[in-house]
Amino acid sequence: MQTLGEFIIEQQKDHQDASGELSKLLSSIKLATKIVNREVSKAGLVDILGGVGGENIQGEEQQKLDVFANKHFIKALQARGVVCGIASEENEDFIDCNTEDSKQAKYVVSMDPLDGSSNIDVNVSIGTIFSIYKRITPVGSPVELKDFLQKGIHQVAAGYVLYGASSMLVYSTGNGVNGFTFDPSIGTVYLSHPNIKTPEKGKIYSINEGNFNSFEQPIKSYIDYCKQEDKSSLRPYSARYIGSLVADFHRNLIKGGVYLYPSTSKAPNGKLRLLYECNPLAFLVEQAGGMATNGKERILEIQPTELHQRVPFVIGSKKMVEKVSAMH
Ligand code: AHG
Ligand code: MN
Ligand code: MN
Repeated sequence: MQTLGEFIIEQQKDHQDASGELSKLLSSIKLATKIVNREVSKAGLVDILGGVGGENIQGEEQQKLDVFANKHFIKALQARGVVCGIASEENEDFIDCNTEDSKQAKYVVSMDPLDGSSNIDVNVSIGTIFSIYKRITPVGSPVELKDFLQKGIHQVAAGYVLYGASSMLVYSTGNGVNGFTFDPSIGTVYLSHPNIKTPEKGKIYSINEGNFNSFEQPIKSYIDYCKQEDKSSLRPYSARYIGSLVADFHRNLIKGGVYLYPSTSKAPNGKLRLLYECNPLAFLVEQAGGMATNGKERILEIQPTELHQRVPFVIGSKKMVEKVSAMH
């Protein structure tokens, strides 16, 4: 079986990454992934569970693992000088990586270092999400906000890590989606899911239905539709909602399904963040043959205006996302 390291090198040969910079960047992500995975798998044995007693910039309670993952991803990316800037859910502002090497780097990364924080303490799957762009400002100059506020269609690569029953890295450089599984006994990551394609339709819908009363009418109608009986369209669908976006997305990607985080009265723009949750997953789902919208527009074509911007999010199998859009 091919290892992730071998795969990255092979891709570099027949891809735009002639300088090998993107390969180095992906290798840094692989390293950080292993460090976080080691800590996640020991949770419960070492003092890594629970909150740090503070909130992040978005008013969410920070967990120890949020802070740990954030620190190690930033460290791995900074130490190797593979990116010139980093934006993270856990940092109010983007980081300008001001080392000699970093100044010459042409990529910026946006990330959700630990996704599904509320599931950490109960041993349920969590993840990491990342999105990579080429900077717009000239190499050698300070990184600017506009380097991060690029439309999702301009992503050079995107991916996620799922810390689950087994841990996986799934990513795309715009040339299909590939999934790799970590073998902890030898510390190696192997290509286990080559060229992932998501089914055109499925029978899973994933939404926090506790918010039903505050959904807008199109979403309420779609949920009713999911529950109606109709053999030809595989209904009623099954409801599956883990509460870790990465885990819910991964399941639906493989099995077929639709994930929705629409606007609610408490969160009028939805809850999920465009730059480091929605755009990277939208890039992957499209590469796998699926779709992602905010109900009306394609996620990848939304012009970001803020680092921590939220958007309503509908993602998954093409036919199912189309149906949600039709309800709008
Ligand atoms: P994060 O842990 O990075 O803040 O993300 C949490 C997100 C996402 O993972 C999940 O799908 C969603 O929050 C769940 O929200 P609800 O609890 O409102 O359903
Ligand atoms: Mn998240
Ligand atoms: Mn997070």
